[in-house]
Amino acid sequence: MVHLAPLGQDDSSILYGWLSDRTYRLDSGGFAFVSPRQHESWFENLQKGSDSALALAVRRTEDEKLVGLVQLVNINRTYRNAELRIRLAPALGGKGYGTQASRLLCEHAFKDLNLHRVYLYVRASNGRAIRCYEKVGFQQEGRLRQHCFVDGEYDDFTVMGLLASELTL
Ligand SMILES: CC(C)(COP(=O)(O)OP(=O)(O)OC[C@H]1O[C@@H](n2cnc3c(N)ncnc32)[C@H](O)[C@@H]1OP(=O)(O)O)[C@@H](O)C(=O)NCCC(=O)NCCS
Repeated sequence: MVHLAPLGQDDSSILYGWLSDRTYRLDSGGFAFVSPRQHESWFENLQKGSDSALALAVRRTEDEKLVGLVQLVNINRTYRNAELRIRLAPALGGKGYGTQASRLLCEHAFKDLNLHRVYLYVRASNGRAIRCYEKVGFQQEGRLRQHCFVDGEYDDFTVMGLLASELTL
């Protein structure tokens, strides 16, 4: 079981550590070196949040360990939509945490923030992520051909979307 919570200062170094896992970086959309200073500035902005961006820690309920990061970005209060992003700790995929955390974030988006639609972009080759999102109720809505260049080749992005009425609980 996992729950969502505000990020704490101690989470920064843990998130930075995850970047050393190449597969994690590639699944997340590409590889780039990140210096500690760049990371700190990114984390500071993440924690600060804004009217159009929210980031939360995914914590394992039994021990409060940080197991992932979820974000709503590009929150549009007029359109009532937002983009979802999620990353779990490299060794902790495949345990159902991603499905639970995505569901909790979408529930927050619909029930607390009064959003109507949540969408996301995922590498078309990332079968685990796509399956995870489908379990939450997301539908594949379109394909952006050769949208990214990762690990030496172009890959498509799949666009997925979820309306408030479609969230599976
Ligand atoms: C993507 C991610 C959030 C998914 O979370 P997770 O906890 O690993 O996923 P879950 O365990 O909840 O569900 C995964 C599902 O995919 C299935 N699956 C695993 N590998 C698969 C594959 N190659 N193809 C299709 N389905 C696959 C699992 O069997 C499971 O489905 P099931 O419950 O019906 O058996 C997580 O793995 C992650 O953060 N990965 C690294 C970064 C990333 O890819 N982020 C997404 C960027 S858009």
